[in-house]
Amino acid sequence: GRRVTVRDIAAAKERHEKWPMLTAYDALTARVFDEAGIPVLLVGDSAAMVVYGYDSTIPVTVEDLIPLTAAVVRGSKRAMVVADLPFGSYQTGVAEGLATATRFLKETGAHAVKLEGGRRVLPQAEAMVAAGIPVMGHLGLTPQSVNVFGGYRVQGRGQAGDELMADAKALEAAGAFAVVLECVPEDLAARVTASLSIPTIGIGAGDGTDAQVLVWQDMAGLTPHTAKFVKKYADLQTILGDAARSYADEVVGGAFPAPEHSYH
Ligand code: KIV
Ligand code: NA
Repeated sequence: GRRVTVRDIAAAKERHEKWPMLTAYDALTARVFDEAGIPVLLVGDSAAMVVYGYDSTIPVTVEDLIPLTAAVVRGSKRAMVVADLPFGSYQTGVAEGLATATRFLKETGAHAVKLEGGRRVLPQAEAMVAAGIPVMGHLGLTPQSVNVFGGYRVQGRGQAGDELMADAKALEAAGAFAVVLECVPEDLAARVTASLSIPTIGIGAGDGTDAQVLVWQDMAGLTPHTAKFVKKYADLQTILGDAARSYADEVVGGAFPAPEHSYH
């Protein structure tokens, strides 16, 4: 079959169908999630932390993310793949933002891009949409602005909620096809969802959004420390650790390789 498209995403909102998004950073996990029926895979700049070991998303570059994004496209068949634009690759201006988004589509095969911010990046979003590039917005706790927020904390409380609503409406008007709402009060996320005709994708935003997203290593229990909004659906840290210990024990003890693992 064919890939999920922005039209499928739009139709899901009209039918009030909720859907899941997961991050992916390599071909094998992309394949697992694709075969599990996850319709949209995000190659997040969270790769900065979960792939590259940085303590924020600030340092990761276009050169770091392009090969990962290409691998996720190659590893999946049905999912729509969204490329996250890293810090510094679009805030610097419309021309650079458009050049970056264009590179991701041409060099990776991704089907859409995601950028952080509302009205402050609207000219970039409009230029990308005009160029034929589907744009996903991201509001609330936008990790590329962690140094302005002074930490990873809930956004959009009180007056800031009105600003977030205005940003969401501006993104919709600019032609964005969806918007991520990260770490915002659930009532604000529900109000934004009801006010937009494009889908909202929540992370730490309660159950009132059209879709949900989690970083896969958080959802699968590989990340040591996670936020309150994460639910762990597996304990990969224990499963992988046990596998590595069993392998080590069998190599040291001589049980591996056995005759069936050897060529005679
Ligand atoms: O980079 C990322 O993984 C993200 C999602 C958490 C929305 O932006
Ligand atoms: Na991101």
